[in-house]
Amino acid sequence: MSTLRVLVLYAHPNHDMSRTNRVLRAAIEGLAGVTVHDLYDCYPHLFVDVRREQRLLLEHDVLVFQHPMQWYSAPAIVKEWEDSVLENGWAYGEGGDKLRGKHFMQAVSTGGHSESYRHGGKAHFTIPELLRPFEQMAHYCGMVYLPPFVTHDARDTADSEIATQAVRYRALLEAIHRGDVPAPFHTIPAED
Ligand SMILES: Cc1cc2nc3c(=O)[nH]c(=O)nc-3n(C[C@H](O)[C@H](O)[C@H](O)COP(=O)(O)O)c2cc1C
Repeated sequence: MSTLRVLVLYAHPNHDMSRTNRVLRAAIEGLAGVTVHDLYDCYPHLFVDVRREQRLLLEHDVLVFQHPMQWYSAPAIVKEWEDSVLENGWAYGEGGDKLRGKHFMQAVSTGGHSESYRHGGKAHFTIPELLRPFEQMAHYCGMVYLPPFVTHDARDTADSEIATQAVRYRALLEAIHRGDVPAPFHTIPAED
């Protein structure tokens, strides 16, 4: 089985104040076959270099968005990145096949507890439901959508639990790099 090159787009608007994402990120930095690309560090004013980002995508097989949940979605630069990088004729539409067959995953942290993210809970929706625009983005670009890697209660959880979660994250990305990819997680009906 050939190895897969993993590109982690790290999007934390306030990395210096991060508890959870900084530990998860530190656990994967320097891993063979894993590139960590800090979007806010590269583009503090949100002016994304489209050609650079597209080149990076072409050099990798797996795309990971790592970010805190903000207003039940991703920080602004993720949206800006999608809107500018995923061009018609490149990522979708006529001739737009550059991402076809790649894998897509999200590693998200929430301030809310896991019990909030259910029907009847404080957040009302599950994480996969809230991430559906990303699932559909991946589907539209012909990418294989993988289950999200979720860290709940990210502000209050014990340091030891964050450390354990970081070990899990590292193991997951190492497995993906080896080609041991989790089963797809599509909620979109197969015929669509
Ligand atoms: C602007 C903003 C919006 C947020 N929205 C949510 C949200 O919708 N759901 C949630 O669970 N946490 C929300 N949070 C909390 C963050 O997700 C949480 O602080 C983060 O995941 C902690 O990770 P970190 O230690 O890496 O910063 C929000 C935080 C900010 C600053």
